[in-house]
Amino acid sequence: PSAARYEAEDGSYSAGGTVDTDHTGYSGTGFVNSANAAGAYVQWTVNAAQAGTADITLGYANGTTADRPMDLTVNGAAVPAGTSFGGTGSWNTWHTAVVAVPLRAGANTIRATATTAAGCPNLDYLDG
Ligand code: GCU
Repeated sequence: PSAARYEAEDGSYSAGGTVDTDHTGYSGTGFVNSANAAGAYVQWTVNAAQAGTADITLGYANGTTADRPMDLTVNGAAVPAGTSFGGTGSWNTWHTAVVAVPLRAGANTIRATATTAAGCPNLDYLDG
C-alpha cells in the first residue's frame, strides 16, 4: 500500500518556526521553516498498522550549500542521528530522504531536530 502523507504544516514545530508558502513546489498548503537554531524541530504523529521497522520519507529543501543535519527520534528514542540533509540547489527544489525507523502499532511521535545553528532544512512532509 502507498504510504500516508503527513504534511509538516499539520504537525507541530518548535518556537520560531513558521508555515511558509514563499517557495514553489511544496505539497499541501505550505512547508515549515524552522528557526535557524540548533534544537529547532518539526514533529509528526504517524500511525502504523503494525509494529516493525518501516521506511519514512522526508520531503525537504535546502537552498544553501551546507548540510543541515537532523537527529530523528521515534517515541523519544534516538534513531539515526545526524541524518544528512544536503543542499538541494534551491529553496524551490525538494528532495527526499528515506530513513528506516522502528514503529509501534498505533500512534508514533517522530521528531526531526536540527543539530547545527542553521536549523532544519525547510520541511514539506513525512510519508510513512
Ligand atoms: C531563506 C529562505 C527560507 C529558509 C531560510 C533558511 O530565508 O527563504 O525559506 O528557511 O533561508 O536559511 O532557513
